[in-house]
Amino acid sequence: MLWLKRIVTAVAVFFLVILVFYGIARTYVVYTDSQIEGNRAPYFQKQAADAMSVLWHTDEPEIGVVRYGLSPEKLDTELNEELAGEAHELRLTNLQAGQRYYYAIGNTDAMKYGGSENDWFMTAPETGTDTAVRLWVIGDSGKPGDIAWSVRDAMKSWVKENPREGKPYIDQWLTLGDNAYRSGSNQQYRFAFFDSYSSILNNIAPWPGYGNHDARRWTFFDIFSLPEQAESGGVASATEHYYSFDYANVHTVMLDSQDSDRDSGSEMLNWLKRDLEAYQASGQDWLIVAFHHPPYSKGSHDSDDEGDSGGRMVDMRQTVLPVLEQYGADLVMSGHSHGYERSYLMDCHYGNSAQFSEKNIVSRGVEGQHIDFIKAQGAHSGTVYVVAGASAKVDRADMNHPAMAVSMMKAGSLLIDIEGNYLVARYLNADAEVEDEFTIEKSHDDSWKAHSNQSYAGCQAD
Ligand SMILES: [Fe+2]
Repeated sequence: MLWLKRIVTAVAVFFLVILVFYGIARTYVVYTDSQIEGNRAPYFQKQAADAMSVLWHTDEPEIGVVRYGLSPEKLDTELNEELAGEAHELRLTNLQAGQRYYYAIGNTDAMKYGGSENDWFMTAPETGTDTAVRLWVIGDSGKPGDIAWSVRDAMKSWVKENPREGKPYIDQWLTLGDNAYRSGSNQQYRFAFFDSYSSILNNIAPWPGYGNHDARRWTFFDIFSLPEQAESGGVASATEHYYSFDYANVHTVMLDSQDSDRDSGSEMLNWLKRDLEAYQASGQDWLIVAFHHPPYSKGSHDSDDEGDSGGRMVDMRQTVLPVLEQYGADLVMSGHSHGYERSYLMDCHYGNSAQFSEKNIVSRGVEGQHIDFIKAQGAHSGTVYVVAGASAKVDRADMNHPAMAVSMMKAGSLLIDIEGNYLVARYLNADAEVEDEFTIEKSHDDSWKAHSNQSYAGCQAD
């Protein structure tokens, strides 16, 4: 039987060698795909009331220089890097709140980017300020092509038709993850993100959601510089995976539904509670939350299916939603399913879709030209859930989650205007037509009661 033993050993060694080679080749591919190479135009990160970071990349090591000022003709402040490198990141500090700055960027020999009246960024208003805020939201935008570009241009043409006095075309820009298909490699980011949105990146600092496709390479956290130390407001999370930021009277929380532990006692959940406690004490009016995997969807992903996406949708629904609703989250946005789904003003639904009932609907809204939700501030006052993962592709699906008042297989993006105690959200299709429009109004008295659903009986879950 010695010959049999030898054959078995030989086969085992053969497969082991193949496995090792596969592992090495795979690591090599992930490593090389994740390297950032070549020239990349400047983009902004970690917007704050008094600071802004600017990042760019050069194909040769050089000492980066940023000049900025209050007009393109007067870029009178200069910031230089100390060491030469290819990856550049400078944080401009001591800036004035709510101020437009112009810039030019280059090296110690010459300026290469900026210098025109189109090359500006704005700092955030002071936290708590009551001013108009326009937020653009794209989801699953990582497939460059006609759909993504039409959705982008649709936003641009709509805001051109509907400008705001003395304000830029948008103030904030948030993505819901899967920013670069299929694998979030540097090359895919170049086409799907930097090339597609170059005309927005030169003004607006993106807040990027972290999706499953972003997680396939290491590029995401190299490209983006995200606040670990509460540089843009909120409570420090000590990680770039999840964090929060303030803009006027809006507090926004970005969560990681992909890689971080989602258990009730996890670091992310403990941080979330601390952050929302601080939000509650701040007196800000609005709480917006975003993460990639939707807690409710019957789009191209099914939130009832524990086997879909490793149970992440179920986890987020069961552990994260009770906390968000406890602190009165107004709007929760996700992507991952490539369609548009928008819920009622709802509360306390942590089971599967068959368990959703009238009792979870705080309000169906007042019907008119659009749907108006009138709600109170605070715990279990009702939340609107939106899935908007169709900024670059649309998938066929059942689209019949009972929590969703509106479900459609149409490409588009969300444009949200917030002012005072009033929020209006519009889902713009690729032709710049409004497909869904809803408002949320915060009532500081009892007037919301007249519009609430009589079957809603509060939440006993916590
Ligand atoms: Fe996804």
